[in-house]
Amino acid sequence: MERTCRLCVVLPVLFLAVFAVAQTPSPAIPTQIPGHDAIVAGTDWYPEQWPESRWEEDLRLMEAADLKVVRVAEFSWSRMEPSEGRYDFDWLERAVNLAAKHHIMSVLGTPTAAPPAWLTQKYPDTLRVERNGQRAIHGTRAQGSVSSPRYRGFCRKIAEQMALRFGRNPNVVGWQIDNEEGYALMSYDDHARKFFQDWLQNKYKSLDRLNAHWTTSYWSQTYDNWSEIPFPIPMGDHNPGLELDWKRFVTDTWNDYLNNQTNVIRSHSDPRQFITANFMGFFDGFDHYVLSEPLTFASWDDYVGTGHVDPDYNGLAHDLTRGFKRENFWVIETQPGAVNWSPLNNFLNRGEARAMAWQAIGHGADDINYWQWRSALNGQEQYHGTLIGPDGRPAPFYSEASELGHDFVKAESAFRGTEVSSQVALLHSYDSRWAIDLQKFTQQYDQQALLKSYYHALRHLSQAMDVVNPYAPLAGYKLVVAPDLNLIPEDLSQHLLDYVRNGGHLVLGPRSGMKDQFNALLPQRQPGFLAEPLGARVEQFYALEKNVPISGSWGDGEASIWAEQMKIESPGAEVLLRYGKSNGWLDNQPAAITRPYGRGRITYIGAILDDNLMANAAEWMIHDSGVTPVFGPLPDGVEVSRRSGDGKQVYVFVNFAPQERQVVLPRSMKLLLSGKEATGIQLLPDGVEVAQDSQ
Ligand code: GLA
Repeated sequence: MERTCRLCVVLPVLFLAVFAVAQTPSPAIPTQIPGHDAIVAGTDWYPEQWPESRWEEDLRLMEAADLKVVRVAEFSWSRMEPSEGRYDFDWLERAVNLAAKHHIMSVLGTPTAAPPAWLTQKYPDTLRVERNGQRAIHGTRAQGSVSSPRYRGFCRKIAEQMALRFGRNPNVVGWQIDNEEGYALMSYDDHARKFFQDWLQNKYKSLDRLNAHWTTSYWSQTYDNWSEIPFPIPMGDHNPGLELDWKRFVTDTWNDYLNNQTNVIRSHSDPRQFITANFMGFFDGFDHYVLSEPLTFASWDDYVGTGHVDPDYNGLAHDLTRGFKRENFWVIETQPGAVNWSPLNNFLNRGEARAMAWQAIGHGADDINYWQWRSALNGQEQYHGTLIGPDGRPAPFYSEASELGHDFVKAESAFRGTEVSSQVALLHSYDSRWAIDLQKFTQQYDQQALLKSYYHALRHLSQAMDVVNPYAPLAGYKLVVAPDLNLIPEDLSQHLLDYVRNGGHLVLGPRSGMKDQFNALLPQRQPGFLAEPLGARVEQFYALEKNVPISGSWGDGEASIWAEQMKIESPGAEVLLRYGKSNGWLDNQPAAITRPYGRGRITYIGAILDDNLMANAAEWMIHDSGVTPVFGPLPDGVEVSRRSGDGKQVYVFVNFAPQERQVVLPRSMKLLLSGKEATGIQLLPDGVEVAQDSQ
């Protein structure tokens, strides 16, 4: 399997020799911290920015708000190692212990996203070289070079020293490695070029193989020596095989960079301490499935920026993050009202952040941490939302965070040991995303929007969705939908066909099965290896200048942006939709086809459907596959999620509609937030209720 092979492709031996650390096996622990609350609220706190005399008051206010977690230290390298090899953790230990006195547990961040000035001044090769050849400078962050052996050495040492000091501290429940993985920034220096070339050599073994897979006879690109292979600068102008491998190299480089710290922390710490990383939703700088593998669980930083919560986008991003490890996750940063970095930093409406937090819990989050507690008096993020004002007293948002903290305390025992389960999976692949985005063909092609349109229509009906890597086990799903699986190499086609043969329903969206794992066109028509089982193929794809009428068993509507002209090739294949009058080529041609295969079914939808058609298509998929909703009918705008396990069943209802809504329950349930038994729930706009079903 390509993914497994990719994981075997490790960085050059030099890296291994320098950084290899024996990894102590640590039993997987659940995200729910033993002995602590099942769902927790917290904040990101920077004690190093304040006189120690202030800490007690900060922690007292946190405790009063029932905040149970602080994430600390991820930007405090210059305080923890003020000069080379001189470590000072006493202050951090005092902060962690004082937090514990207030019943607050600590998560330690490794500080490697912001190296101290002495380090980069003395060893300039630890700084990244930008694409234009200029070295990054001190004073911002993510300026370290993740491929620099020297930088990695320093990162490993600080992580090791932290682990030696805090790895057995019972008040430290876990670790966050680095911060937002430096936005996947790479260094474009000679070192990095050599590592990339070595990585390619390790993968392809021979240049003949690489030349063949990349078709380098095109434009005289043929390589006779590994050292001839360039960085893909600018991206989009180079060979698609080279560009896709670069993305995988970025993934493996960041993975090794993180593992360099993860491994050393694991070897010195209590296995009950978790290790996580704070990802960024749909950011695609690297393959999150690969980077999540060594972590205990994934976390993400959930920011709205300009505007207001989009429940589909946010729900999808939560489900995506849960799918990285197919485990509960943490929202380790979220905005207390406003951010400081978007075009218009409006405040979320009163109650909106609370609704957003509960939606996250419903989708499998076990922690909500507000970034940040209080703004540093100086520093780049002075305008960001906080819980505490510059005078040290609660800002208005503190009351909303407190309400959440108190509610989590009320509800936590019901959530302990629970998780989300779904009968429907959306497949999501970084390889395919990169391949399409590198050659969009029409700038309007927006994969996130396409994923969201499938998600919206299906989630509305099923009320639970998993978003998983295409190589994930699929047997448990009644319906598997792949809106844009552009790369379907033979091993993946077998995996998908196994699922269908055993009774599953696989739905493919446009651009599916066009390429192999080398980003080369398959020498078959789409969907490649799946064309024969589908009994149909794509004759030609078209980027649309204007919408095209489309109609069939899901009704009448329009296709936009992209349309594939399909053709039936085998008996049993049935046309579900046809194009109307368009460019002549598409007129009256099939747009969507389905065919039973094995004990299951394959469906191919070659167009981007309007909302109404999408809704009808989703209804057909859900019905045909026998998917049952987790709750049942709900008024418009109300989202339900279910978490179950440990003999419990808990529903989270959030009203995203601008009007009040009533939810009718099928029987009397215990309402955990209002503290009563009832058969109905009244929800104000942004209102939330949690119902525990004892049946
Ligand atoms: C990111 C970072 C934080 C902070 C916030 C501000 O998520 O991880 O350090 O800068 O953004 O929104």
